[in-house]
Amino acid sequence: MPSRLDSPLKVTGQARYGLDHDLPGMTYGYVVVSTIAHGEIAAMDVTAATSSPGVIAVYTPFEPLDLRSPSTPMFGETWVPLRDREVAYYGQPIGFVVAETFEQARDAAGLIEVSYHERPALTSLRDGLAEAPDAPPSMGGEPPSLDVLAPDVESIEDALAASPVVVDRTYTTATQNHAAMEPHSAVAAWGPDGLVLHSGNQMSDMQAAEVAGALGLDPASVHAVNPFVGGAFGGKGQTSAPTFLAAAAAKALGRPVKAALTREQVFTATANRAATVQRISLGADHDGTLIAVRHDSWAATPAGGGFVEPTSHGTSREWYATQNLSLRQKMVPLNLPPTTFMRAPGEAPGSFALESAIDELAVELGVDPIELRRRNSSTAPPGKDLQWSAKYLDDCFRIGAQRFGWAERSPHGRTDGDWLVGMGTATAMFPALRFPATVEVTLRADDTAVVSTSGADPGTGLRTVLSLVGAESLDIAPDRVTPRLGDSSLPSGGMSGGSTATASAGTAIMVAATKVIDELLGLASAAGAPFDGADVTYEDGRVLADGRTMSFGELLRALGRESLSTTGSSAPGEERTKHSFSSFGAQFCEVRVHRLTREVRVSRMLGVFDAGRIINPQPARSQLMGGMIWGISAALHEGLEVEDSGRFANGDFAGYLLPVNADVPEVDVQFVEHPDTLHNDLGAKGIGEIGAVGMAAAVANAIHNATGTRVRHIPITIEDLL
Ligand code: MOS
Repeated sequence: MPSRLDSPLKVTGQARYGLDHDLPGMTYGYVVVSTIAHGEIAAMDVTAATSSPGVIAVYTPFEPLDLRSPSTPMFGETWVPLRDREVAYYGQPIGFVVAETFEQARDAAGLIEVSYHERPALTSLRDGLAEAPDAPPSMGGEPPSLDVLAPDVESIEDALAASPVVVDRTYTTATQNHAAMEPHSAVAAWGPDGLVLHSGNQMSDMQAAEVAGALGLDPASVHAVNPFVGGAFGGKGQTSAPTFLAAAAAKALGRPVKAALTREQVFTATANRAATVQRISLGADHDGTLIAVRHDSWAATPAGGGFVEPTSHGTSREWYATQNLSLRQKMVPLNLPPTTFMRAPGEAPGSFALESAIDELAVELGVDPIELRRRNSSTAPPGKDLQWSAKYLDDCFRIGAQRFGWAERSPHGRTDGDWLVGMGTATAMFPALRFPATVEVTLRADDTAVVSTSGADPGTGLRTVLSLVGAESLDIAPDRVTPRLGDSSLPSGGMSGGSTATASAGTAIMVAATKVIDELLGLASAAGAPFDGADVTYEDGRVLADGRTMSFGELLRALGRESLSTTGSSAPGEERTKHSFSSFGAQFCEVRVHRLTREVRVSRMLGVFDAGRIINPQPARSQLMGGMIWGISAALHEGLEVEDSGRFANGDFAGYLLPVNADVPEVDVQFVEHPDTLHNDLGAKGIGEIGAVGMAAAVANAIHNATGTRVRHIPITIEDLL
């Protein structure tokens, strides 16, 4: 069995993504976007577009589709286009042209004349800092402010003032786009049973519910199918404009509609990771013991509010032991595209700030950065009395330091010809979570099994995990287990997000497998059955009793059955009242900065992770490697540049820099494997997001080590090092 079941399908082009579906009578939709950042649409002249060759329909706020904003328990209200004439950002979907071909739709879209009543736009995070309101409580119910103070301490300012050594710095991070290879898109078709939707997402049953809500339908009449998703990273949690538009237009026209955002539109018509400003104040004793941690954050949000990147809470709340902790999370509403979750939301930009500040404190104290982190390692999140279920972070640093040759690091880097060479490190943490999940396990008369769940595999490897955990739970070889996922008609498997899918679905598989084996044994020993009245057991895919044995397939055949199915469910429960849960990691990076050109090359990377049990080592390593590379990307490449007009100056793949092969050295990923069965019976914690945590700081810290220059914003460019 390959280490990833989907790789042969993907590399041979057999994997069919949403847009790969071609249906008889297909029509093609093209999304029209705004060219101002704030105002009201006065008029849209669609005369030329409507009479353009091949055009079937042109939808605008003046000729809208039948759409309403749906709501989900997880995300609240989801925005849908064309409901009013308000424009809140540059690149907002404001129209939809449907034609016989894609080219005809695109040409006609270019003929639409839009006039606006323009209003002044707020597009600068910096300008909005002073007046920024508190963020609302986060999805997890965290209030924007948190203060934990030692009994005799009045305020965080007092605690900082009483600290012998203080580092007080401000860091900034850039707006980022998920830039998934598969653009947001849909093929929508109506059939006798309702709407069939092929559209990449992170949770097919939630997408079905959102689209049903938007169209005013019963969720059962929308069938969302997405066995393959070309990357998501948080950007395909909520359903996006082309899917709503394609679904509604297909209904209105009685023909299938295919619609995709262009690459440029993906940057504005979906949602991004917000830019942040973070002020961190660390107060410490001379030996490095933290006395006070203050983390004040400002995150851009859409003008009407929306997802707030939780930088303060995502890092400083849990990472280090301190008697005095103060967190503030502010939001800065701007006329920019919406914000949403992006891989390690909060932790990725938050760790750049916190782990840079810790490095600055280490330099100030003359203490080794690993030793400083070790001295302040938390046994429980400050202010909570729930200790970590398991924490092997010290092991990660110890193993990593040895493997990386940390002992050879000089506090002032070294030179190698014209290159200045430095090493940096950072902590990585990401909370270990899981969501409710239901899985169906089916035993079949041909001695194979099927594991089914609606959950998505956006490239994370869930498909293979289903077969591996299914095989283990049924005590048979993995190639006898067929995984099925990415289909809203299957049992609700939760979301592929928050680094939860393996823990959520895996635990449910164990429950379902135990139940189906019990049922099998019940059938085997029932009156008139092959093991009538016997004391039966199950092992190796076989039923045993009294020295006799039958495979489950033989038994089902003997009983005249084709299959036996059961569902099993799991959900987070009591364990959350007993412990705190997190994955942990130690990130290492070596950079080479050219003495004359000041270009930065990352020459070595290592991440050592404590993420509980690792189910499938090769894809797990790749998953973490991808996250670590995203760390290089955030540190040195990625960042959307906002023009005063609110337009992204570099919202395309020519200007939005991403690391290519030449930017990425060998990436070493190691695990310290300690199954965490306090978290769930499978023992797996999350690996999806933690790879992207800490690495940007490790890069910046390595640059400081190499050059002596501390850069407090990302991405770091040549200009910063001149
Ligand atoms: Mo991830 S940002 O939870 O999809």
